[in-house]
Amino acid sequence: MHDDTTRREFLLGTAAAGVTLAAGLREARAAKTLPYGRNARPLSEVRIGFVGVGGMGSGHVRNLLRIPGARITAVCDIVEARVKRAQDWVEQAGQPRPTGYSRGETDFVRLCESEDLDLVYNATPWNWHVPICLSAMKNGKHAATEVPAALTVEDCWKLVETAEKTGLYCIMMENCCYGRPELLVLHLARKGMLGEIVHAECGYMHDLRAIKLAPGGEGDWRWKFSIDMNGNNYPTHGLGPVAQCMNINRGDAFDFLVSMSSPPLGLNLYAQEHLRPDDPRRLHR
Ligand SMILES: NC(=O)c1ccc[n+]([C@@H]2O[C@H](COP(=O)([O-])OP(=O)(O)OC[C@H]3O[C@@H](n4cnc5c(N)ncnc54)[C@H](O)[C@@H]3O)[C@@H](O)[C@H]2O)c1
Repeated sequence: MHDDTTRREFLLGTAAAGVTLAAGLREARAAKTLPYGRNARPLSEVRIGFVGVGGMGSGHVRNLLRIPGARITAVCDIVEARVKRAQDWVEQAGQPRPTGYSRGETDFVRLCESEDLDLVYNATPWNWHVPICLSAMKNGKHAATEVPAALTVEDCWKLVETAEKTGLYCIMMENCCYGRPELLVLHLARKGMLGEIVHAECGYMHDLRAIKLAPGGEGDWRWKFSIDMNGNNYPTHGLGPVAQCMNINRGDAFDFLVSMSSPPLGLNLYAQEHLRPDDPRRLHR
């Protein structure tokens, strides 16, 4: 793939020429032309700016503080007290107090522009993942985001094309790929002990009704996506592990995706039973 050809044009071109997507990716990989991370170099110390230190972000920060070589040098959240709490954890772990950013919803831009960082890692509500990753990469930092990385196909392309243009990594932190049972199955698959896998079914079952509608944390924002969007808006916990077993993006690729849903009756019922009649969260489709 030439530098002046975007991956989107490359893929459309190969499809138009009747070459399968999978074959196109295989060739590109064999020729080592996939441009991700070309501006990456091995680092003995990784300077991280963390954006969004709520429920999940706090867990990530505390985990990172246990990893040798990981340094948290900047923290951002719209809630100042959460920034302070994370700064305290970093100091308690023996690292210098990171710079705090809490001047509103777009203060991550200031973090990306002014900090000397290797990685910007975010665990914010879904609508912020793409703006934060793009800001990180445009300012020369690798980007890591909580799931889901993006909410529209157009936004997925923005991430891919910015990663290609900048030569930086942009990774979605899909933890379910790395659970013990999932890794066991992956190992069996790679050893050939499951034969040739020609079909897989996957899913993710997690009763989030209470969390989605509770005050604080995800309850403050996640329910809105259940009202405004219909479909599986959180597919990667189920799909990620199976995609690894089937070498998706490691020599094979999805040709197309289809999403189907039944009405969210359970969530609706829960909202009706637990919320006041005038509560806007009772409007689940
Ligand atoms: N991988 C998993 O197993 C897993 C589990 C839980 C949550 N998550 C994901 O983690 C992300 C965060 O979820 P959560 O449960 O921690 O939610 P949360 O509401 O507890 O935390 C989000 C944090 O982001 C902050 N924030 C909001 N907008 C911001 C902005 N513009 N700039 C900076 N900070 C901002 C909030 O103040 C809050 O502290 C979501 O994408 C969610 O889907 C993943």
